[in-house]
Amino acid sequence: MISLANLTISVAGKKIIDNLDFKFEKNRVYALMGPNGSGKSSLANSIAGHPSYIVNGKSQIQFEGESIIELTPDQRAKKGIFLAFQTPFSLSGVTVFQLLRLALSGIKDPLSVRKEIDELSKKLKIKKELISRSLNEGASGGERKKLELLQAIVLDAKFLIFDEIDTGVDVDALKIIATYLNKIKKGRTILLITHYNRILKHIKPDKVIVMMKGKIVKTGNHKLASEIERGGYEHYESPRS
Ligand SMILES: Nc1ncnc2c1ncn2[C@@H]1O[C@H](COP(=O)(O)OP(=O)(O)O)[C@@H](O)[C@H]1O
Ligand SMILES: [Mg+2]
Repeated sequence: MISLANLTISVAGKKIIDNLDFKFEKNRVYALMGPNGSGKSSLANSIAGHPSYIVNGKSQIQFEGESIIELTPDQRAKKGIFLAFQTPFSLSGVTVFQLLRLALSGIKDPLSVRKEIDELSKKLKIKKELISRSLNEGASGGERKKLELLQAIVLDAKFLIFDEIDTGVDVDALKIIATYLNKIKKGRTILLITHYNRILKHIKPDKVIVMMKGKIVKTGNHKLASEIERGGYEHYESPRS
């Protein structure tokens, strides 16, 4: 699905990620864990094509066998890469329907976009008024994350990245989001960025990746997340896998 090779990323002239190699497979859920400032969001942003994250000449990012390094964020999104932000912003005067209708013009007809939104908002237990209101206006952290998930599904995203998926999200919303992600993982790749084990109680990651100081220092199965919960990150200081 997505493969990273020799990925080196700098932000504001500072090297954040150094020579990273990793392959994300289809039908899998990944949990990317690591202390603050280890480069998790930088990695997510550079996959999505954020222009502030500069990748060096040797870096490779491939999506289904094709290099996407030259593509704009919009072109990457059209290929199916969806990054849900740590703090989804609100969009005054634009409803989720208007936004999605625009994004999908010429791809899906407005009626089916509307129908999908209605169905998904029921499944994800998103209040009706949040759907008719300007996007994210007055929405809580959990509601915003649910709305991000809704957008990812209507846009038919193939590679879904949720940055800080459990930050500011209450237990009920977290459970609904995790349960729904479990249902849709077939045919997709899901990357959950999280500090905690909390969400991983509801969705079992196929692989846990621990990142520190811009390097992957350990990978393992879901048990690794529990180990981290107990022992913290200290003993992963020296890179190994
Ligand atoms: N836009 C930016 N400008 C300057 N420094 C940044 C920017 N984004 C990230 N960094 C720096 O890059 C490092 C990694 O940050 P980040 O990827 O946000 O880590 P994480 O998501 O793991 O907490 C930090 O030292 C952070 O200060
Ligand atoms: Mg972050």
